[in-house]
Formats: sequence, C-alpha cells, structure tokens
Amino acid sequence: MPTPVVLDCDPGHDDAIAILLAAGSPEIDLRAITTVAANQTLDKVTLNARRICSAAGIAVPIARGCDRPLAGPLRVAEDIHGGTGMDGPAFGAVTAGVVEQHAIDVMHAHMPATLVATGALTNVATYLRRYGTAAVREIVLMGGSTGRGNTTPYAEFNIHVDPEAAHVVFTSGVPVTMVGLNVTHQALVTPEVVARLTTLGPLGRICGDLMTFFAATYREVFGFEAPPLHDPVAVARVIDPSLVACVEAFVGIETSGTYTRGATVVDLHARLGEPPNARVAVGLDVERFFDVVVEAVRNLS
Ligand code: RIB
Ligand code: CA
Repeated sequence: MPTPVVLDCDPGHDDAIAILLAAGSPEIDLRAITTVAANQTLDKVTLNARRICSAAGIAVPIARGCDRPLAGPLRVAEDIHGGTGMDGPAFGAVTAGVVEQHAIDVMHAHMPATLVATGALTNVATYLRRYGTAAVREIVLMGGSTGRGNTTPYAEFNIHVDPEAAHVVFTSGVPVTMVGLNVTHQALVTPEVVARLTTLGPLGRICGDLMTFFAATYREVFGFEAPPLHDPVAVARVIDPSLVACVEAFVGIETSGTYTRGATVVDLHARLGEPPNARVAVGLDVERFFDVVVEAVRNLS
C-alpha cells in the first residue's frame, strides 16, 4: 500500500525535485503540498510549488503556511535559489491553484499520514502545537547534520531558519527521521545525472535547467563541483528505507548558542545520557537514489 504523505516545503530547486519524486513514485500517496517561508518568502515559495505542479500536471492541494519563523526574522537563501526562489527554468502557465485553508489545517485534514518536511519546521511545529501528535505517523525531515553546517559553521539552513520550531519537533515524541547534510552531500547531481533527466522531455529539461542554476550557485558559494540534491533524499527514505541507512540517536537543537544557534547536536555515541529521540541518516545508496529520481520524473513525463 502506498504511504500517505503530506510534503511541507520551501521550493527551492531541490524541493521542486522532491515534489516530483513524491508525486511520481507509486510507493507514495501524495495527499497535499504545504509551503513554508525559508528559501524565499511565503508568496514566492508558494508560487514555485504551483509552477512545478503545473509543469508536471500534479493535481494535489497546495496550501500556504507560516510566513516567518516562530522567533526572529526570516532570512532567505537568495544566494542559492535566486530572487524567485527557483531561478533558472522558464515555466509555462501556472494552472495549479492554492487552497484557502492554512497549511496546518490541510495537514490535519489528511492525517493519519507521514509528514515529510524539506524546509524550515515552522509549519510542522505549529501543526503539533495546534493539533497534537496522535495523528502523525512519522516526520521525515531534511535538515541538520551529524557534522558541520552550511549556513553557519555548525547550523544547517532549515534548522537555522527556525531553531525553536526544530526543538518543538525533536521533543514532540513523534517518530522523527533526520536526513542531514552528512548524507545529502553524497547526492551530487553530476552532468551524467542531468543528462539522464534532460532526455525525458519537457519536464526533464525543466529539471535540467533547475540543476544548472543550482550547480552555478553551489559552485560559487560553496565550491562544489556538483550540487547536492538535499530534499529528495528525505522522500527517498519514505519510498524505500533501504536507500537511506539510519541509526537511533539523541538529537538536541541548540537554540541559544552564541556561535552555534541552530546546530543539531547528534549524540552518536550516547555520551549525554539522553534517550534517543530520532533516527539519523548516516548513509545513502547514491546509485539507486538517482535511479528512483529519474524513474519518478519519467513517470510524470
Ligand atoms: O540546507 C539545505 C536545505 O536548505 C534544503 O532544504 C534547501 O532547499 C534549503 O531549504
Ligand atoms: Ca528545502
């Protein structure tokens, strides 16, 4: 039976591919897409979700969520995703709409389900505070790292945008799977992967244009030879858990560190005496991962 999923995202180049992977994989029953301010403003990430769904003919409800973190200002990632939040491709007409209901109410309407979160955790935390944890089967999130960060030396972007929300999620008691940079940095979109996508027709070419822009900013900002496809790795974990190896560990969210706010402190060797509160990704079957990504785009083409 396909796994019911609500995908909470901030498109975002890699979020866009995560949407395609979720919608194009038979193992997932994509119930709804909810948007959260992070990579760009709420208006921009919501328009981007509508754009990619229009291009792929994905007809699931899209709902707007929170437009700022629980505490502190919104800081977007324009240097990585551009002024629109999804610079690069020329998108056609936007035919996919947006529903009136708030994202957390749409999440509630589609529970029980797995919540996959690929942006800041503001919507997920707000949902948990409003509706509780009972109906959420699992939260699988792209965020954090067992090692260094990408936004500050020790904080990854999604967690850094809203550390308070991340603390709510990791202390909620809901089964949480954390897919961090230590794994997503293995999912590099090489020219060979781009070529596999662009042969799939118009949708594949949009993916290629997305990755071409993403590659340029990742080279410029981080010196990467190829960009890491972060968010789809979280979706891949739901599709086939054997793709993403995980271990149980305690994860603490730093919310007040002078230099470490937004860090995910992953206690891989149980040194803190805290019970594990998350499954933490530690490995990726890269070849099979890109096989499922390409297959999903093919299914939608
Ligand atoms: O740190 C990577 C994460 O931040 C990804 O989800 C990317 O889309 C950005 O949101
Ligand atoms: Ca994202």
